[in-house]
Amino acid sequence: MCGIFCLLTLTPSQFERDKTVHEHLKRRGPNLSQDLTVRGSCYQCLFSAHVLHMRGLLTPQPVEDNAGNVLEWNGEIFGGLPVKPEENDTTVVSQRLSTCSSPSEILSVLSSIRGPWGFVYYQKAGDYLWFGRDFFGRRSLLWRFDTELNALTLTSVAARGSGSDQAVWQEVPAAGVYRIDLNATAESGSVMFEVYPWADGGTDEVSSCCETILESVPSGCAAVMNQSGLVLPTPVRPLNTTIPTSLNETEDHQNSCVKDLEQLLASKDKNDEVNRLIEVLSEAVRRRVQALPFREQDVSLPDEQASVALLFSGGIDSMILAALADRHIPAYQPIDLLNVAFKLQEPKKQKESANKHKKHNNKPKTDAADSRTSSPFDVPDRITGKAGLKELQDLNPERKWNFVEINVTQEELQKMREERICHLVYPLDTVLDDSIGCAVWFAARGAGFIMEDGDQRAFTSSAKVILTGIGADEQLAGYSRHRVRFKTSGFEGLIQELAMELGRISSRNLGRDDRVIGDHGKEARFPYLDEDVVSYLNSLPVWDKADLSLPRGVGEKLLLRLAAKQLGLGQSAVLPKRAMQFGSRIAKMEDKREKASDKCTRLLTG
Ligand SMILES: *[C@@H]1O[C@H](CO)[C@@H](O)[C@H](O)[C@H]1NC(C)=O
Ligand SMILES: *[C@@H]1O[C@H](CO)[C@@H](O)[C@H](O)[C@H]1NC(C)=O
Ligand SMILES: *[C@@H]1O[C@H](CO)[C@@H](O)[C@H](O)[C@H]1NC(C)=O
Ligand SMILES: *[C@@H]1O[C@H](CO)[C@@H](O)[C@H](O)[C@H]1NC(C)=O
Ligand SMILES: *[C@@H]1O[C@H](CO)[C@@H](O)[C@H](O)[C@H]1NC(C)=O
Ligand SMILES: *[C@@H]1O[C@H](CO)[C@@H](O)[C@H](O)[C@H]1NC(C)=O
Ligand SMILES: *[C@@H]1O[C@H](CO)[C@@H](O)[C@H](O)[C@H]1NC(C)=O
Repeated sequence: MCGIFCLLTLTPSQFERDKTVHEHLKRRGPNLSQDLTVRGSCYQCLFSAHVLHMRGLLTPQPVEDNAGNVLEWNGEIFGGLPVKPEENDTTVVSQRLSTCSSPSEILSVLSSIRGPWGFVYYQKAGDYLWFGRDFFGRRSLLWRFDTELNALTLTSVAARGSGSDQAVWQEVPAAGVYRIDLNATAESGSVMFEVYPWADGGTDEVSSCCETILESVPSGCAAVMNQSGLVLPTPVRPLNTTIPTSLNETEDHQNSCVKDLEQLLASKDKNDEVNRLIEVLSEAVRRRVQALPFREQDVSLPDEQASVALLFSGGIDSMILAALADRHIPAYQPIDLLNVAFKLQEPKKQKESANKHKKHNNKPKTDAADSRTSSPFDVPDRITGKAGLKELQDLNPERKWNFVEINVTQEELQKMREERICHLVYPLDTVLDDSIGCAVWFAARGAGFIMEDGDQRAFTSSAKVILTGIGADEQLAGYSRHRVRFKTSGFEGLIQELAMELGRISSRNLGRDDRVIGDHGKEARFPYLDEDVVSYLNSLPVWDKADLSLPRGVGEKLLLRLAAKQLGLGQSAVLPKRAMQFGSRIAKMEDKREKASDKCTRLLTG
């Protein structure tokens, strides 16, 4: 993970870059910061890069090649381009791009890469500035145009309330790659982006991508679609939109449970798909947890420190990732399971239970939270997390699983939101962005307690790689709105919903999560969004992935539940989806009558 920044100014006058933004970038790349300026006749480009040292030797950025091309690379190559053991991916991308002259050559290099990226590239021949994000938008990139100063800024992370008021930051849509003709821009005095969209040929696709981009182009700039029809071939197969010809393919079950999963698993048909899913997902996890082949073994970390952590709720998505990580990380290395809980509000809770007692005719207290031994941090995700830990310990008793209990009080939440998190979530701004952004920030920080020989001990995770389960619900129909959609508009509606959700995952989640996790000098990795995993899931008809005629906890993400059983997991395989904001109880802490989509006033500072 790196912090990249580029400031293009069209007036010769120099001005200070935003200091707060600079500070935020340095937190993403704490190990090395470097600037480089390219001066044209009537423009100036300041490149500033901040590198997080993962393994092996540190590769400084920005990289300038012999021809004077400049690359800022915030990405990981997990496949697609050959990277030799002694090479580093930044250099490989730079060398590849150096050999390109035409746009189609550049696009072909970029679209061949498997893995997350955001980049800025100055192409000396022709005076072009290229930038963009990978197909899913797994790395953040923001833009802003300041009309007063005639300056365009690109950056991994910004700051709320920075710069002049009329120029707002926006996420660069992960809809394609952009090119600016710097000479033409300098001549005309206005910035024009040429857009090369991600597409596999459909014209509908290109026009819908065009709309997305036009909505987000900073005011003062313009975008044109390249008339030659040049596109970036999408790195994944298109979604299978087949609708079942008869309802026989899905049977109606009532009261299904673990047993039914076992029966389904016994049917050979599904077994093939389950095994194939485990195979591709396992490979996706392997690529993300093992010392990458082109990097030297990390000798700086002692064996008692984990190099990989997971955002861990004990739900099925994170359990599967943990079970697969266990396959690929040497047994002597611990794995950190980051479990976040927000303190339950005491007075509120008493009132609730008092009401309950009235209603239930003073029946004995049954609510676990009422028992004397319970803690205000025993939120739903803490309870399922502990149960999940038990399952993992049974699965591999040799492994040291560090279950990190991250307890957050309201005071600390308010303090850190104001100091840091509001800047990272920005420019997103809803109640949901606030809840998830805060929960993920505290979880990723990894500072909490672990139990050791019956004692609690303060613990901070040292792992720089953080696996997250995002993408499973979007692809395997895990959300309750999928059930609603299926009920009202059948398979057709469900398929439309799934396609739409994967399409917007960059703007809804990924940019934000990358900024939030990157703030700790750690790198988010998303195995469910590995290109091969998505391609495989996209190839399957929807009824193989979910059966929404089955009850909650079984029908949604059915294929993944079957995979969990196959991997030897137990009760966690049949837990219904619980969104992080409810599982961690952050939504309850705020205790406001607000909707998830409302603008969040708590994120406003100053
Ligand atoms: C990189 O920066 C982090 C955070 O400051 C530090 O803990 C780590 O030791 C640094 N690594 C190297 C190789 O300098
Ligand atoms: C990165 O790779 C290039 C090309 O393989 C090599 O010349 C360079 O020394 C490498 N840099 C580091 C810091 O390993
Ligand atoms: C851009 O402008 C500079 C200065 O006028 C010139 O030297 C350079 O050749 C131009 N580049 C292109 C591609 O026209
Ligand atoms: C489209 O790209 C081609 C190069 O592939 C370039 O020659 C042409 O000028 C571009 N068209 C527009 C409208 O920018
Ligand atoms: C559906 O199942 C019923 C009874 O099991 C069977 O009679 C019918 O032929 C099946 N329909 C199709 C299209 O397979
Ligand atoms: C954190 O929360 C757990 C409950 O899940 C509790 O057992 C533990 O004592 C708490 N630790 C601290 C230091 O608050
Ligand atoms: C979609 O799924 C159906 C049913 O399994 C299969 O016959 C078809 O080949 C799949 N289509 C694609 C494009 O993968």
